[in-house]
Amino acid sequence: MKFKDIKALASVQGPAGSTAERLSRRGFSVEDMRKMAAKRLPGSIFDYIEGGSEDEASLRRNRSSFDEWSFLPKWGSVGNLDLSSTLLGGRVAMPLTLAPTGGTRLFHPEGESAAARAAFEAGVPYGLAHLSTTPMERVSAAAPGLRRWFNIEPMADKVELQAVLDRAARAGYEALLVNVDCRAIGHRERDYRNGFTAPPSIKVKTVVEGALHPRWAFGFLAHDAIAFPNLDAEIPDGELSSTPDMWRTLLAGSYEPTDWDDIRDLRTRWNGPIILKGVVNPNDAVLAAEIGIDAIQVSNHGGRQLDHMASPLDVLPDIVGRVEGRLEIIVDGGIRRGSDIVKALALGADACSIGRPYLYGLAAAGQAGVAHVLRMLAADMTRTMMLLGVSTIRELRTEGRELIRHSSEAFSRTSPSESPQARLAFEEMSTP
Ligand SMILES: Cc1cc2nc3c(=O)[nH]c(=O)nc-3n(C[C@H](O)[C@H](O)[C@H](O)COP(=O)(O)O)c2cc1C
Repeated sequence: MKFKDIKALASVQGPAGSTAERLSRRGFSVEDMRKMAAKRLPGSIFDYIEGGSEDEASLRRNRSSFDEWSFLPKWGSVGNLDLSSTLLGGRVAMPLTLAPTGGTRLFHPEGESAAARAAFEAGVPYGLAHLSTTPMERVSAAAPGLRRWFNIEPMADKVELQAVLDRAARAGYEALLVNVDCRAIGHRERDYRNGFTAPPSIKVKTVVEGALHPRWAFGFLAHDAIAFPNLDAEIPDGELSSTPDMWRTLLAGSYEPTDWDDIRDLRTRWNGPIILKGVVNPNDAVLAAEIGIDAIQVSNHGGRQLDHMASPLDVLPDIVGRVEGRLEIIVDGGIRRGSDIVKALALGADACSIGRPYLYGLAAAGQAGVAHVLRMLAADMTRTMMLLGVSTIRELRTEGRELIRHSSEAFSRTSPSESPQARLAFEEMSTP
């Protein structure tokens, strides 16, 4: 057999013409993107994305809780499959958001701007971290039509708070994502061992590792130094700077306490939607609804704060039952496939949010990498819904609970005690 005969049989692919094409040939799952990110980044920076706090029990729980739910597809026709939905009064192309992640330019020089552009193209909202490494105005300019939310801590200093709110409103941020899980910084041992601090800063080890990852190092060195420009009330002239008092005191463990009165106060200061991020206790979800909060992001901060926490999926059914539709519910933590999103929606969530998955895409290939992750999740969701037997997000959210079962329910629901006929048959079978 000649080479041309083999070529005809094997349909040999030519070289990929674009980054998107290269990714579509090599990245079939978020896990594939994770491996690409691990190769591209210095180990200590990859660990900063990857790690959780203490024994990383919350981090593992976020994943394992998805495996405890199984699908029970229904047969019937599925037509015009549609992932679009609404969130906080606006349309989303799919019920997904990009969660805020601090220090994003450490992973790719275009950092937050690349993530924002990919989110805009995919038609999903983007939460920009207070500790973002790109000024909030520059992110707005990178994707002016993007639905963008700004992430802050509740602040005791109301002058500082008002300055941040005014700046975010001027820069076109539609909603506030307010953290209620950061009274202290989680004990992230991978980072300590790597000499990597929060807010992230570069140590000698990272520089040495950088030399071994030239593509990352070139991008890192050729762009602006890492800084946290949203922490200033106004963009300073020239150098972007500073760790302001709020973060310095938080990191030193002496942060002035804030409570529900500060959330009520925030409600009076901000006209747009407010999302409380980090709610897991159903009582807090009810309180949030009572004081007019628009949404909660059920989250354990991706397992990076308190260890041994319940996973968002563990508490979701309880929260959905308690808030009775008075506020919208977004879920984050451990989402790696479209089927995970389908499970959360079937349990009553309005939308899901991802952190690490889009950071893997960003580290692997910038904006194209984030876009690829979002495309994979949309394709996963479409296929999963088709196989499950639902055509729309509304149908999934209303009928979903009948299409999914927890491992603890699986035996009891199908047990012979369910129906008298089944019990009889079971007894007959068991009679020697
Ligand atoms: C590298 C990194 C930085 C993060 N920084 C922030 C942050 O600044 N503010 C915040 O509210 N959450 C932050 N988070 C948590 C995410 O918003 C989100 O809750 C979490 O990543 C979801 O879990 P997942 O990574 O399994 O999707 C960060 C997460 C990662 C991985």
